[in-house]
Amino acid sequence: MPQAQIIDGKEIANSVRDDITHRAAQLLEATGKRPGLAVVLVGEDPASQVYVRNKDRAAEACGFHSVKHTLAADTSEADVLALVSQLNEDEEIHGILVQLPLPGHIDESKVLRLIRPEKDVDGFHPVNVGLLTAGERASALVPCTPAGSLVLLKRTLGDTLSGLNAVVVGRSNIVGKPMASLLLQESCTVTIAHSRTKDLPAIVKAADIVVAAVGRPEMVKGDWIKPGATVIDVGINRIPAPEKGEGKTRLVGDVAFDQAVDHVGAITPVPGGVGPMTIAMLMANTLTAARRLMN
Ligand code: GUN
Repeated sequence: MPQAQIIDGKEIANSVRDDITHRAAQLLEATGKRPGLAVVLVGEDPASQVYVRNKDRAAEACGFHSVKHTLAADTSEADVLALVSQLNEDEEIHGILVQLPLPGHIDESKVLRLIRPEKDVDGFHPVNVGLLTAGERASALVPCTPAGSLVLLKRTLGDTLSGLNAVVVGRSNIVGKPMASLLLQESCTVTIAHSRTKDLPAIVKAADIVVAAVGRPEMVKGDWIKPGATVIDVGINRIPAPEKGEGKTRLVGDVAFDQAVDHVGAITPVPGGVGPMTIAMLMANTLTAARRLMN
């Protein structure tokens, strides 16, 4: 069997970001205004700090107005809600992203529901979830990771995914459920599998498209996957790598890449697959939100 096509998420994300940068410049020329993104981080979680810094930098690189609010871990829920209210009213801000997870004393759902749906660039507000589920994608803001995964699928398979069997492994609100909605809207036959699914290997074997988003290192084995299938690996897991030296680690996805790569049709690497697309789609959502709010 030939080697799979390795889907270059970094390159595709760069082309998306170039396009957004160009369109943001056109918007600035036409209106004198820039898309504005506010990112809110509560606490000092190191992974969240990296994500927030990357989002802030990407926004600046696209020519956006970018504001970062870093709050102490013991900030009260009322103060976080007050900041969101203030950002909701701020005319220079078109996108609001509150980095998750929030500290335990803050009700995440309460914070996410307060964000104006038109500024909800994460697509987590129930209004956006509802619009996507109802098939009204054109007026929703769609969660960034599934939106980016769909772009990778279309760049690989072409615009028509109609009739293909798709399995989404994982049922989270951030990835699994919205991914399934997007694929259903593309007229795929969609199965959502999860930790309680019986005979997961057989379910995966039937799929032309496999989206793995379970957060378990290399859980989807190579021989579960149908020859020629397209694999989108959303997982980013850090595991020990003693072969690199004591205490060293490496990143792996939710799919056993080395087992899959010799017989699947195409597969995203980890890192360098879905990860870069998530930030690119956040920029796309911010530009979309800005254009809608300026109209
Ligand atoms: N934490 C992990 N992933 C995400 C995401 O996509 N958005 C936000 N806001 N927080 C996250």
